[in-house]
Amino acid sequence: MTTDDKLTIKPGMPLRGTTSVPGDKSISHRAILLGALGNGATEVRGWLAAGDTEATLGAVQALGIQIDRHDTHTLTVHGGTLKKPDQPLDFVNAGTGIRLAAGVMAGQPFESVLDGSYQLRRRPMKRITEPLQAMGAHIESTDGKCPLTIKPAVLKGVRYEMNVASAQVKSALLLAALFADGPTTVVQPGPARDHTERMLSSMGAQIVVEGNDVTLTPGAQLQPMNLTVPGDFSSAAFLIVAALIVPDSDITITGVNLNDTRTGLLDVLLEMGGNIQVTETGLEAGEPIGDLRVQSSQLRGTTVGGDMVVRMIDEFPVLMIAALNAQGETLVHDARELRVKETDRISVMAGELRKLGAQIEEREDGFRIIGQQRLMGAVVDGHDDHRVAMSLAVAGLAAAEMTVVTDARCAGDSFPGFAETLVSLGGGMLPQAVE
Ligand code: S3P
Repeated sequence: MTTDDKLTIKPGMPLRGTTSVPGDKSISHRAILLGALGNGATEVRGWLAAGDTEATLGAVQALGIQIDRHDTHTLTVHGGTLKKPDQPLDFVNAGTGIRLAAGVMAGQPFESVLDGSYQLRRRPMKRITEPLQAMGAHIESTDGKCPLTIKPAVLKGVRYEMNVASAQVKSALLLAALFADGPTTVVQPGPARDHTERMLSSMGAQIVVEGNDVTLTPGAQLQPMNLTVPGDFSSAAFLIVAALIVPDSDITITGVNLNDTRTGLLDVLLEMGGNIQVTETGLEAGEPIGDLRVQSSQLRGTTVGGDMVVRMIDEFPVLMIAALNAQGETLVHDARELRVKETDRISVMAGELRKLGAQIEEREDGFRIIGQQRLMGAVVDGHDDHRVAMSLAVAGLAAAEMTVVTDARCAGDSFPGFAETLVSLGGGMLPQAVE
């Protein structure tokens, strides 16, 4: 995790050179949770050691699963039978951790309580409790929020039509389906990230994907995995936008996960005129990976909505920064989900960017930005939301004066070493001790 509580950004310094990004957060959560269900030792390299994933790891250890840490990013998960935890499982800020774990816990023969930070306690859980209850799960929530109390129940296979395109909901159902009495089909409204399907399939689960429908038939014994976690595209996104908007930049990011369900921002930035060259280099953990060369570009505004939204759901805060630097109008719609992330990312980002002098029109399901706005320097607040804090830092790189992002330690929830990476590329980030 970054040790910096605040980031001080000096604008206008070009980013140059080659770097990599930490392991994919979604895959790192799943490597622990699914590894725990495998029949033996799952070996994981390139694991993301960050706030959110450490919370999932701690919860799985509290369920009696032995995890050997060989070094920060290399570990062995000794899969087997889960045991009743002595205390509530604490997922801290990790929405992915708690929602996926709820699916697993619904199928266990013991009671568990799943909880988290003040921030996690604000996030909607009905989206998982309702479908899990439809499978017969016994779950009590606190007004649709966590803590969740999950009691033993007999689960039945169902066909469930999701009303929100969410990989977390889909994954919770597929994991519960492992413990059901018959096949479960999850019908997605759009193509949400598919890491759970890929991983379950690599473990020998009987899983069939037909368009947006995913069917899991329980019964197969899950085999352990041996995987190297690819770099997180969502972390690379901050560096990509930074290089595009700071003049004279030219960077290469190696080993990035290019799974199509995750790279919506790449398509949008290319459409906006971004000079980004993609070189696929192979497969890692069943996911396509590659290198991205990004050079400063004059971007043009665009419109984003429909199925594209779920393919870049975590990238809208940083898209705002690209849009502020683009020529013309950028319009985002169908992105209501942004309001129930770690924070309400539409209103929090708009509010903080206004402190930098930006003009942003908030919409109920998105935003509208007229570009080529030169931001001034200011003190802005990361709101304990990693993607907000890092997006504001990127905004500062192209501002007219120094920007300070306070409450920025949360960058380490997904991108430990964010500031150090920018500094290594020549970006204007002043090292700052914790006060
Ligand atoms: C994630 C899914 C997304 C994303 C989150 C990680 C996952 O959430 O925002 O950061 O790993 O499954 P939703 O599926 O709820 O949109």
